[in-house]
Amino acid sequence: MATEEITERLLADAVTAMETLSVALGVRLGLYRALSAGPADAHGLARAAGVHPRYAREWLEQQAAAGMLAVAADDADPYARAFALPADAAEALLDADSPFYAGALPGFVASIAEVLPQVADAFETGGGVPYAAYGEGARHGIGGLNRPAFRTGVAGWIAAMPDIAARLTEGPARVLDLGCGTGWSAIALAEAFPGARVHGIDLDEASCAEAAGNAAAARLADRVTFAHGDAARPAASGPADLVCVFEALHDMADPVAALRSARGLLAPGGAVLIADEKVAAEFTAPGDLLERLNYAFSALHCLPATRAEGTAVEAGTVLRPGTVRAYAADAGYRCAELPVEHDLWRFYRLDPA
Ligand SMILES: C[S@@+](CC[C@H](N)C(=O)[O-])C[C@H]1O[C@@H](n2cnc3c(N)ncnc32)[C@H](O)[C@@H]1O
Repeated sequence: MATEEITERLLADAVTAMETLSVALGVRLGLYRALSAGPADAHGLARAAGVHPRYAREWLEQQAAAGMLAVAADDADPYARAFALPADAAEALLDADSPFYAGALPGFVASIAEVLPQVADAFETGGGVPYAAYGEGARHGIGGLNRPAFRTGVAGWIAAMPDIAARLTEGPARVLDLGCGTGWSAIALAEAFPGARVHGIDLDEASCAEAAGNAAAARLADRVTFAHGDAARPAASGPADLVCVFEALHDMADPVAALRSARGLLAPGGAVLIADEKVAAEFTAPGDLLERLNYAFSALHCLPATRAEGTAVEAGTVLRPGTVRAYAADAGYRCAELPVEHDLWRFYRLDPA
């Protein structure tokens, strides 16, 4: 790339980055939620969301210039100009059940910005930044992004393992969800398989507490439970018909130990289901959008969070299929890729060798 092209790219990237942060602000302060009730001018938005009118005006204009909001009624007085949240934008930003929901993602980016000095320190010292330090933005960013896929997809993913699907459908069955985050996969599994009890384990205490609250809100607390702990040394007892690891193997400091523990918890005929990033089979540069997305998360979030946990293996987000197969073999499994369609993940079935 010529210098001038790089400069242009950096400028465009800076615009995108700042627009992402302004979307995060709009989500955090409830500005989009307020506009979902109907068009508003700066004073109306300020009253509805409890922000200062001057900031409301600037944000509304910025969002319209960025193409996220529409001008509903123009006016020479900038404070009287009304802005609307188009239905498509409302769905993507506010409807957590929509398959197109991405409203939690800008907050994840903002959570990285908030800890950037700690990430810089970690680069220098080789240390880490605890997962918890990224706060609610990361927790909800991951959970919010994955929740629609769990709700609509989990039964189909399990159907790719007909023997396990039969065990879960017939019940009673037991499922372990390692690295369960805020619990949406465990809840989706319990909803899809009423004869199953699901137990989630996560190293992040705040995630476990939220997961328990989410299960209670879904009226599933009797069948969906959570415990704070390390998947490499789970206190949970088997036997489990299925052990799931959704987008979490790459976050574990010792993924092989976690898989080995899972093997010890499996009931005879049980299996492990891993879903992790659909990155290229080999390192390629420049990479496609998925490769770039996962490397960016890796350098700024997953690798620092994993190194805060320990440095046994720490894969980083870019967990290639060959690496999953190597971990599986080390932990005593046969590994097969499952024919499951997903935009972001690959699915692997592990059976004790
Ligand atoms: C990217 S999040 C995925 C969360 C959830 N499975 C989902 O798909 O929404 C990775 C999760 O792995 C958890 N984690 C990392 N290391 C772990 C370990 N050693 N044992 C258990 N959980 C771990 C993190 O706390 C985080 O909640």
